[in-house]
Amino acid sequence: MTSGELLSIEVTGEGDVFTLRQRARVVADAAGLDQQDQVRLATALSEVGREVLTQAGGARIAFSIDGSLRVRVRGYGPLSPAAPGFAAAARLVDEVSHEGEDVILSKGLPPGRYTGDWLRNLRALLAGLAKPSPLDELRAQNQELMAALEDVQSQRDELEETNRGVMALYTQLSEELERTNQGVVALYAELEDKSAQLREASEAKSRFLANVSHELRAPASSILGLARMLLELGEPLDDEKRRQAELIRESGRDLLNLVNELLDLAKAESGRIEPEVVDVSLRGLLRRLKETLRPMAREGVTLVVDDPDGVEILQTDELMLTRVLRNLLTNGLKFTERGEVRVGAHADGDHVLLRVSDTGIGISDEEIERIFEEFHQVRGPIQASVTGTGLGLPYARSLVAILGGEMSVRSVVGEGTVFEVRLPRLDRIRLGRVVIADDDAAFRTMLRGLLHGVAEEIEDAADGYAALAAVRRARPDLLLLDLRMPGLTGEEVIRELRADPDLAATRVIVVTSTDTDGIDGVALDKSRLTRGELLRAVGEIGKRDA
Ligand SMILES: Nc1ncnc2c1ncn2[C@@H]1O[C@H](COP(=O)(O)OP(=O)(O)OP(=O)(O)O)[C@@H](O)[C@H]1O
Ligand SMILES: [Mg+2]
Repeated sequence: MTSGELLSIEVTGEGDVFTLRQRARVVADAAGLDQQDQVRLATALSEVGREVLTQAGGARIAFSIDGSLRVRVRGYGPLSPAAPGFAAAARLVDEVSHEGEDVILSKGLPPGRYTGDWLRNLRALLAGLAKPSPLDELRAQNQELMAALEDVQSQRDELEETNRGVMALYTQLSEELERTNQGVVALYAELEDKSAQLREASEAKSRFLANVSHELRAPASSILGLARMLLELGEPLDDEKRRQAELIRESGRDLLNLVNELLDLAKAESGRIEPEVVDVSLRGLLRRLKETLRPMAREGVTLVVDDPDGVEILQTDELMLTRVLRNLLTNGLKFTERGEVRVGAHADGDHVLLRVSDTGIGISDEEIERIFEEFHQVRGPIQASVTGTGLGLPYARSLVAILGGEMSVRSVVGEGTVFEVRLPRLDRIRLGRVVIADDDAAFRTMLRGLLHGVAEEIEDAADGYAALAAVRRARPDLLLLDLRMPGLTGEEVIRELRADPDLAATRVIVVTSTDTDGIDGVALDKSRLTRGELLRAVGEIGKRDA
């Protein structure tokens, strides 16, 4: 026996397998393994014992402990560790490995206690054990089996209890979810109501603005004209009267400007202005802005124009874009007392990002959404000293929407403000064939105009049947579809397309003046369709399909 070795058993017959099994259990118990691990080890060794008898006519099996428990199996003849007995044992111990011809089983032990004394005592205990009779061993195995069965039963009970708990939780959760859902549905209904009311109110407001400003323009122009006449024609005025007439003229001019601004805003908000998309040189546009706005800068404030980065030409409405940037830059210059106001443009994939930043007074979180409301101005010491009506930002935002873009702002009070305008690069949008289905020939022509430079080929269809036929024949990248048409309605055309596997994927944008609730897909309102909006919709379905 080598040092650390506990015992060795020559397995030459069935009886030795029982002994092996019993000793294994005793060693496992003494080494502090729990009941289940004791049974595992005993079973593993009884499998190994049977295997060595059939395979090699027997073996010497030695137990030793150093950190872990190692059982060395040296067969009387060659041993194949792939045999079923070893395979079964491998599932019950930590590892089955080789050392030369020997097969080694190892099993980790709880830490501590394996001192020289302890080993000596265990050796003595093992040496004193009698060989078990098959009957004893059977009894021991039965006990193990019963214990295992009890274990399984109690685990099953536990599992059942857990399941019951989980089910109860699940029922409770789904009830709660249902209640929440009902709440959400009700909330949505309310929201929809509210947003319909809001939409109406906002349309009424735009109409009112448009009408009032239109009506105000005539008298304001008259005042201006009359004041000019007083000053330039007729009797020369004495100094005091001239001063007063000049004041009338100045006020008239301010009034007319304000009225014009209101009218512009009303038009932009109602979407009644069409962008005129042309090739715009961003570099040129920014430089011109710098020239006209530089005089506005206070002392100690620089207006910096960065050269565009990665994009030179942008297809957009030059006048609208200029107005947007002028509004943002004017604001920056008004609300910055030192540092710089900076503007630049850079390519951002299929978009251009225009950024106007300043090192000015900043805008607080509470105010930041309100600044887009008409006439809203943040109260503060600077505000009193600068001119403005609070229409610049709502106007700029409406224009950006017409151009198919988005405007965002972030700001830190005392540090400055950054406005960003994201505009689509319309030249990046390319369509091959497009079918325009509408019974109104004038509107078809208008749509053709909007798609100029974007679509390679455009086909017209004057009713629903013609639309279907055109799609079948031309397999377009896009179908622009009216809803109210003779023959088949737009809804019926969509249904036919979706039912045909070859045509089901056809991209459709509904363009109509009828109610589009319940239309599945992108729908645009005929009465306020702009190129920007149409191209934005094209981009949107492109994104959706991607
Ligand atoms: N860059 C900025 N820094 C700090 N505050 C700003 C900035 N831009 C806008 N604001 C705040 O938002 C308000 C609304 O801006 P907006 O451009 O709509 O109106 P305005 O400049 O006051 O008048 P208008 O543009 O009609 O001449 C401003 O009055 C100001 O309080
Ligand atoms: Mg402004």
